[in-house]
Amino acid sequence: MTIFNENKPIENQLVDLFKRKVEYLRLSVTDRCNLNCRYCAPSMPKPIQIDKLLTFEEMYRVIKIGVKLGIQKVRLTGGEPLFRNGVVDFVEKLCEIEELKEVSLTTNGTLLAEKALRLKAAGMNRINISLDTLSREKFRELTGADKFNQVWNGIMKSAEAGFSPVKINTVVMGGFNDSEVPALANLTLKYPFHVRFIEYMPIGVDPKTASDSFIPSMELKSRLEDVCGKLIPVQDKKLDGPAKRYRFENAQGEIGFISSMSQHFCESCNRMRMTARGFLRPCLLSEEQVDVITKLREGASDEEIEALFLQALALKNSRHGLTFMGEKILKTKMVSIGG
Ligand code: 5AD
Repeated sequence: MTIFNENKPIENQLVDLFKRKVEYLRLSVTDRCNLNCRYCAPSMPKPIQIDKLLTFEEMYRVIKIGVKLGIQKVRLTGGEPLFRNGVVDFVEKLCEIEELKEVSLTTNGTLLAEKALRLKAAGMNRINISLDTLSREKFRELTGADKFNQVWNGIMKSAEAGFSPVKINTVVMGGFNDSEVPALANLTLKYPFHVRFIEYMPIGVDPKTASDSFIPSMELKSRLEDVCGKLIPVQDKKLDGPAKRYRFENAQGEIGFISSMSQHFCESCNRMRMTARGFLRPCLLSEEQVDVITKLREGASDEEIEALFLQALALKNSRHGLTFMGEKILKTKMVSIGG
């Protein structure tokens, strides 16, 4: 049986209470990571037994059902997604789903040098790589691992493999890496990369710690322009993420600012998340979730799993309520849900 009628476009059934259309699923394929970044996994949660994580077959089934409901984009996150064996084969299978317009990956880059070519050949469309510093020593301090060179190599290899653009994610932490923002931004002069500066969110870390090192995007932008010159706005395209985009004159790449805290973009949110443990979450910054793994393992029908998507959709709030005041503390660490 084919679920798709080839002539008829899929009608999106994932429209929430606030008329937002969900077409983007972020799938955490593992809760394990080979780095220990202080903003993401300040104390690494104990990984759960592998048999409690979704298998790739289960993830595939969930995605096919999501696609039937209107999902058009899938991004693999972690933990570190490339740290799970078999992920490249999984990417290949996902890329064969015709109705999916985009399959992408967020990675720490440490395993990219060896995998970039295979990911490209598998059909992967986009790659985002986390890089918070250009200093090998600071990288070690931040992540607990001396792997800066490996990551840099991974970035170069993914550009060589033909990923375009390669996106670099930098979480800005005042007093730690804000002084490196001009150097990171200047990478876009030499390379066609999109460097995106992300506001530090108090997730799984003490809100006070996050608040002390928080720099709002617009302040960062004006500090950057003082040093490096004017940033020219770039028009948004459909299916683009929440970054406000700019470029320097004559640059090959772009600069983006993601202001999750100072100017949230919840009104245009088009996402849902699937955790590695098999729970659907309506929002990165909410701990509400719907148990899918149990139903899958009980032999639920596709219709029953569809109903779980709708249940998660109904839990989507109009906006996230995370602040630095600490009224709402998220126990979930980013490493468990993926960025
Ligand atoms: N604040 C903002 N962004 C974060 N990320 C992880 N933890 C945080 C945080 N506390 C983002 C990083 C990484 C992606 C996986 O999630 O940018 O690239």
